[in-house]
Amino acid sequence: MAEELIPLCNAPDLLDSGDAVPFDVIYHGQTCRAFAVRHAGKAHAYLNRCSHVPMEMDYQPNRFFDSSGNWLICATHGAMYSPSTGACIGGPCRGGLVKIALSEFDGVVHWHTAHNLKPIEF
Ligand code: FES
Repeated sequence: MAEELIPLCNAPDLLDSGDAVPFDVIYHGQTCRAFAVRHAGKAHAYLNRCSHVPMEMDYQPNRFFDSSGNWLICATHGAMYSPSTGACIGGPCRGGLVKIALSEFDGVVHWHTAHNLKPIEF
């Protein structure tokens, strides 16, 4: 299946180091939550699944940034990740976050499907 671009949100919905926009995907055949954030002006998206224990990470709905606004933090045991790469930068993580490619054009953020990443069919 060719890669598709799925509209996710309007570009102004993602504020720098602000709240995430959640979305759902099918990853390896399973429905998973995902989220998009903006950091240093650029939008990024990841599965909402900590690499320590596969749990959702937000400590309040759609809140992933730590108080500095520089890192994504898991609410459960404090694993910290780079918002631009998803790489682990501290805490008990075992590898990085699963990154979802985004494109931003015409004022809209889109996510990219992949061989293991598909949209939810309604
Ligand atoms: S589940 Fe995220 S740090 Fe443990």
